Amino acid sequence: MIVTNYFEDLSTLRVNTCPDRAYFIPASTARGALSRRPGEYTDRTLLLNGDWAFRYEPNVRELAEPFWEEDYDLSGFDSIDVPSVWQMRGWDRNQYHSNGYPFPYDPPYVGAENPCGLYVRDVDLSPAQLSGRVYIDFEGVDSCFYLWINGEFVGYDQVSHSTSEFDVTPFVRVGRNRVAILVLKWCDGSYMEAQDKFRYSGIFRDVFFVFRPKEHIRDISLTALPADGYKNGVLSVDLDFASKPIPVRWEIYDGDKLIRKGVSDGRIEEKLENVRLWNAEEPCLYKLLVSCGGEYIAQSFGFREIRVENRTVLLNGTPVKIKGVNRHDSSPDNGPAVDIDHVKRDLYLMKAHNVNAVRASHYPNAPFFVELCDEYGLYVIDEGDLECHGVIHAVDAKGDWDFALIADDPAFTETWLDRDKRLYERDKNHASVIMWSVGNESGYGINARACLEWLRKADPTRLLHYEGRFFKMKTYPESDGTDVHSYMYPTLDKIREYLKKDGALPVFLCEYAHSMGNAPGSLREYWDLFYSRSDILGGCVWEWCDHAVFAGKTPDGRPKFLYGGDSGEWPQSGSYCMDGLVYPDRRVSDSLMELKNALRPVRVSAGEAPGEFTVANCLDFSDLRDVADIFWEITDSGEVVSSGKLRAFSLTPHKTKKITLDIPPLSGHAFVRFIYRQKSDSRFVRSGSELGFDQIELSTRVPEKLAPLVSGRISVTEENVRTVFSGERFRYVFNRLTLSFESMVFDNEPLISAPSGINVWRAPIDNDRKSKEKWIAAGCDRATARGYDSRTAVKGRSASVTVPFSVSSPMYRPVVRGTLKLTVDAAGRVNWSFRNVKKLEALDTLPRFGVRFFLPKSSSEFSYLGWGPSQCYSDKRVASWFGSFSGSAKTSYVPYLRPQEHGSRWGAEKLTVSGRLPFEIVAGRTPFCFSLLEHSQETLTATAHEFELAPDPFNVLCVDYKQEGIGNRSCGPDPMEPYRFNDKSFAFDFTLVPLGGDR
Ligand code: GAL
Repeated sequence: MIVTNYFEDLSTLRVNTCPDRAYFIPASTARGALSRRPGEYTDRTLLLNGDWAFRYEPNVRELAEPFWEEDYDLSGFDSIDVPSVWQMRGWDRNQYHSNGYPFPYDPPYVGAENPCGLYVRDVDLSPAQLSGRVYIDFEGVDSCFYLWINGEFVGYDQVSHSTSEFDVTPFVRVGRNRVAILVLKWCDGSYMEAQDKFRYSGIFRDVFFVFRPKEHIRDISLTALPADGYKNGVLSVDLDFASKPIPVRWEIYDGDKLIRKGVSDGRIEEKLENVRLWNAEEPCLYKLLVSCGGEYIAQSFGFREIRVENRTVLLNGTPVKIKGVNRHDSSPDNGPAVDIDHVKRDLYLMKAHNVNAVRASHYPNAPFFVELCDEYGLYVIDEGDLECHGVIHAVDAKGDWDFALIADDPAFTETWLDRDKRLYERDKNHASVIMWSVGNESGYGINARACLEWLRKADPTRLLHYEGRFFKMKTYPESDGTDVHSYMYPTLDKIREYLKKDGALPVFLCEYAHSMGNAPGSLREYWDLFYSRSDILGGCVWEWCDHAVFAGKTPDGRPKFLYGGDSGEWPQSGSYCMDGLVYPDRRVSDSLMELKNALRPVRVSAGEAPGEFTVANCLDFSDLRDVADIFWEITDSGEVVSSGKLRAFSLTPHKTKKITLDIPPLSGHAFVRFIYRQKSDSRFVRSGSELGFDQIELSTRVPEKLAPLVSGRISVTEENVRTVFSGERFRYVFNRLTLSFESMVFDNEPLISAPSGINVWRAPIDNDRKSKEKWIAAGCDRATARGYDSRTAVKGRSASVTVPFSVSSPMYRPVVRGTLKLTVDAAGRVNWSFRNVKKLEALDTLPRFGVRFFLPKSSSEFSYLGWGPSQCYSDKRVASWFGSFSGSAKTSYVPYLRPQEHGSRWGAEKLTVSGRLPFEIVAGRTPFCFSLLEHSQETLTATAHEFELAPDPFNVLCVDYKQEGIGNRSCGPDPMEPYRFNDKSFAFDFTLVPLGGDR
C-alpha cells in the first residue's frame, strides 16, 4: 500500500491536525464580521467547494501511483462536485443499514476491500492571502482522509461529522497550489459510525482556506449566564492565542447597538444589566466582536441557563418541555451533503409545526446548524459522532452479543473521547445547545463514563445525556454521569414505573413515536402524560425525514424513491430508513400534522358546568396574548351553528383560565372546536395561520332512524345458494354461502362491480410488523366467509336472511364466527347486522372487521359526517375533528413510499358516495370507519414501492366496525389497550341506502 495505514490503527486518530476549537469565521473588517450570516464566508476565507478532479478506486490497497504529486497527470480523472458523496454521483453503490457494520467485525481492520476517492484541485493564492498563517478546514469527510499540498503530505484525520483543521502555512505558495486528498470509505473510526443511515463516502461538507494574521486568537470559549434572579447577565469569555497573548479589542452589541467595549489580553468578564434571556420562544441574541492583528471575529451569544431542580429541568428557572424531533442530514439527491437552504427549510418547517427542539441524531450537523438554531429558537441536543451499534451482530460462540464490546474496551477510550471533545469544542458557544449527548446506542462501560466525566468537567453549564447508560443500569448507580434518564420508545407504564424509583432522574424520551409509514399512534396519550408531570422533560419523535434515494420520475411524474436493498447491496435494512414526519423531498405527511396538534401551544378542556371551559397556556415563556387568537365554532351534526373569537386575555406560561361560552340549543351530535391562530406575522408563521385546535363534545350522538316505508313491495326468491331480493327499482343477488352480494342493480345501474364480502385484513402498515406474523399465521390475509344454514323471512315491506357464518382460510381455524342478519326493504335499503361476532381466542387481535365493496370507478367522490378531514384511526386522530367533510378515492391516497393501509376515516356516522348511482351508508348503533380507495389491500400489499403502484380497475369501499390501532410497533410499543382490536364479542350494523340514479 502506498499510504501509511493510519486507517486501521486505533492509536492514530489524527496526524498534524490543529487542536480543536470553536467554529468561527474571521473577517478583515468589523462590518464584515458583524454582518456575516450563518453559513457565510468572508474575505478571509477561500471556499474550495465546486468541481474537483476525481477518481474512484475500488480498493485503496491496489492504489499504485502517488496521485498527490504536483505534476501528476490528471487526464484519467473524472470530476466531482464538492461537497457531495460519490455514491450519489454514480460511483460505488448505495447501502442502507440501520445499525450494522458493512465489513467484518474485526477491529481495527475494516475488511480486505476499502474503496477510496482521489480528489485533486489546483488553487491560486495571492501574496496578500499568504501574508500570515494559512489554514485549511474540512467540515465533514466520510470516513477518513489524507491530505497533500504541492506534493507534500500534510496530515490525516477521521471522525466524519467533525471539523478538521490543518495549518498549511509551510506547504502553500503564491500562485498555483495543488491540493490532493485521498478519502477512504472505511477506517477504524467506522466502528464508531454505525448510525442508522445510508453509508456514504466523500467530502460531503464545505472545504475552505482561512487566511489569518501571524498572531491571532486560536479559540474562543464563551459562557453567558443569567444572574441576579434572571434579571442581569454575565458574559465570560476566555481567549486562547495561536502562540502568545496579544491585546484584543472587544465590543458587545445588542442588535446594531454597541452596548459595551473594552480591551483584554485573554479574559472578558462583563455583567450586563436588564438583559433579555434566550429561550426557544424568544431567542434573544447579543453579539461579541473581538479583534486583534487586523482580524475581526463576531460570535452571537444568548444568556441562558439550564439545570435540574427537584427532578425538573429548568431553563432560566422555568420548567420546560422538549417538543423535539430527531433529525439526520438527509437529502434524496445528495444524501448527507445538505446545503444551508435545505437545513433552513427543515428548521422553518419545524418551527411552523410547533416543534421547539432537535436532537442532532446521531452526529454534529454542519456548523451553521447550531448558528441557525440559536437564531430561530430551537433547543439542540447535540450528539457526538458515535454509534457502535454494530457490536450487536458480533456474536460469540454461544450466540450471545455484548453491547459493551467497544464501550468497555480501553483500546477505544481515546477515540470515544476524541469524538465528544470535538463535539464540545466546536459548538460550545451556542445558546441553543442545552444538552450534550455522548452518542447513540453504543453500549455502556468505561468509555462512556470517560466521556461523561470529561464533558461534565469541560462544561458544567449544560446537561448531559446518554441513552446507552440504560444497558448497564444494574451495574452503575442511577445518577451515573447523566442529568436525565433517557428512554427510547417506552410504554407509558414504563415511564411511570421508573419515576417511582428513589433517585430517579427527569425522564427524557430521546426517541419516541416511531414515525414509519402510517404512524405514529397515541401522541395524545404521550403528551397528556408529559404535560401532567414536571419530571418528564418531553421527547423527540423518531424521526424528521424519510431517507431515500431519488431515482428520477415515472412517466406520469411521480418521484421514484429507492430504499435499502434497491441497489443490490448486502447487508441492508430495507425500508427502515423511511420513518420520517416529512417525505424525502420534504412534503409534509399527515404524521407531522398529528405532531403539530399534539404540540399545540394552547389547550382548552371542558370545565365543570355546561358552557364552562379551561384554557391552558402550554408554552414555557410567552404570554398567550402575544402568541395566539382563540376562535371557536359550535357544530350540530356537522353544521356550524355559532362561532366567534374570544376576547384576548393575558395568560402567563403554564397557567390556566376559566372561560364560558353561550351554548345554543342543540339537537344532534354537537361539538365546540377552539382554533388557535397565530397572532401576528412571525418569521415562520403568518398571522392568522392555524397553530392547533381542541374539540370538545357537547352532546352525544343519537343514532339516525331511517324513515319507515309507507309504500312499495319486495319479493324474494331463493336460487340454490343465492337469495334474490327484488323491488320496483332494484334487484340484488346475495350469496348465502359466501355472505356476499354478487350483484346489486338499482335503477338499472350496477352499484358494485365485483362481489362484496366480509373483510378481516388490511395491507400491513409498518407498525403491524409483529402483529402481522400472528395474523398471517392464523390465515387472516386470505380468509373468506362461509355461511351455514340460513333462515329467510319476509315481513311487510322488508325481507331478511339470517346466516351464522365463519371467516377462515385453508389450513387454519376460523378467525371469526358470528351471525349476520341481512335485511332488504322495498326501497332497496340494505341493513347488515352482525351479532355475537367472536374472534378466535388464540388470536390476540384482528386487523379489521367489516364489509368490502368493489365500486365502479365512477363512484369516487364522497362526503361524510365523522372524523376528518384526512385519514384518521382510533389512536391517530389528534389532528382530526368531528365534522362534515368531503373527499375522493384520489384525494384519500397517502403516498407511503412502501405502500400500506391508509385513507380510513374513524368514527363516521353517515357517508354519501356520489357517482352514477349515489348511495349512503348510515351507521347503526356504533359509528363506523370507512375508506374509499383506488387500490385494494392486495395491490397495496404486493407493491414494494410507491412509484410502482397502479390503480385497480375498481374503487374499494371498506365499511368497518374497527381496525387495529396504529401504535408505534415498527420500533416501539403495540397500540395502547383501548385501541387494540381485541374485543371478545361484538355487534356491528349499518345500512346502505341507494339514492337513485337519473331515471
Ligand atoms: C433507534 C436508533 C435510531 C433508529 C431507530 C429506528 O434505536 O437510535 O437511530 O435506528 O431506532 O428507526
